[in-house]
Amino acid sequence: MASGVNSPRVLTIDDLRELARRRLPRMVFDYIDGGAEGEITLGDNCRVFDTITFRPRGAVALPAVDLRTTVLGSTLDLPLLLAPLGSGRMFFPRGEAAAAHAAGRAGTAYILSTLSGSPLEEVKAASSGPVWYQLYLVGGRDVARAAIERATAAGFKALVVTIDTPVGGLRTRDVRNGVRELLSGNPLRMAPYVGQVLTRPRWLAGFLADGGLMRFPNVVLPGQGAMPYTDAMAALEHSVVSWSDLKWIRDVWRGPIVIKGVMIAEDARRAVAEGVDAIVVSNHGGRQLDGVAATLRALPAVVAAAGSGVEVLFDGGIRRGSDIVKALALGARAVLIGRAYAYGLGAGGGPGVQRTIDILRSDLVRTLKLLGCPSTAALDRSYIETAGQRLSDI
Ligand code: FNR
Repeated sequence: MASGVNSPRVLTIDDLRELARRRLPRMVFDYIDGGAEGEITLGDNCRVFDTITFRPRGAVALPAVDLRTTVLGSTLDLPLLLAPLGSGRMFFPRGEAAAAHAAGRAGTAYILSTLSGSPLEEVKAASSGPVWYQLYLVGGRDVARAAIERATAAGFKALVVTIDTPVGGLRTRDVRNGVRELLSGNPLRMAPYVGQVLTRPRWLAGFLADGGLMRFPNVVLPGQGAMPYTDAMAALEHSVVSWSDLKWIRDVWRGPIVIKGVMIAEDARRAVAEGVDAIVVSNHGGRQLDGVAATLRALPAVVAAAGSGVEVLFDGGIRRGSDIVKALALGARAVLIGRAYAYGLGAGGGPGVQRTIDILRSDLVRTLKLLGCPSTAALDRSYIETAGQRLSDI
């Protein structure tokens, strides 16, 4: 019988999460799994989906359902994209390339984080599908300009500007697990925390064979080369993106621009006024400002404010295909998944990401058939119920 990610017992994203928990050191698993402060927003992002119920149409025969959608001019076979995740190479050797490859095979897009451990050219080459670049201004404008120019030359399709990270969130699990100490390279500081790594020899062997402690090859500092891991948090705090940067970014990047981290109608209107092409309703998976609303609650107001001027994408809390159906019914064009594929990657590399996508794809097909809905494009509010309340009041 197949074991690991391809075991027939792996039916849900939660099953992959459990496999990732067993393979990864605690500091890596908690980095993926955790959120900011009391993890209230992280929990809410997931629980809010339970407050929405379906309105199925019976006696509808649908031999096939159509999952395709178009995002920024690219036709995707599935209405889900792989969200940017920093440090993917910690989850699995060459993790970003493995995830990008799986996305391309599934006919969808991969978004590469600035804070990744692999050169952007390598990640682009790994995928047969569209690849987008997510921008943090770490290291300042000249450093960002060099990355954008490389992304242009490599054929990246869109630039994603994340606006919810003026400072790193307080992720208490990371602090308690000694992430900073373990990344310091100083044996004395590392010593109290190394036990969690030594108990995962399979992960450790793969990590060391992949080059061990890495740098960020897409953040090339003048005179210093690729930025080391240890500098990332401090660098983020000195690299706040503001609306005034957008004009500058547009001069450097000629392709579509996506603003990620919109939670309120005012920001959606501002993004439209700035002429961006798409926005992502996102609270960074509950990793930044704890206490902000679940993204699904914010979605209807942002969709209304955005009008037809920009494409609205959504992320946060998606663990099942039925969650995707609910977000699309509330007006999202497509969703980004973060932890759902991070668990797959951590559990088993590329095949784990593929398993994540397969689970969500079969959830989507089943849910649409049970709803009597022929396609993701046909989803609207008539397929869901919010218990007679406005979503923002739930
Ligand atoms: C993230 N996220 C993120 N976002 C971003 O713009 N740049 C980044 O480098 C990262 N890094 C990152 C690492 C990890 C481990 C996670 C879990 C998340 C946020 C991510 O793109 C997305 O918004 C959330 O993950 C969506 O929530 P779910 O799907 O994880 O619930």
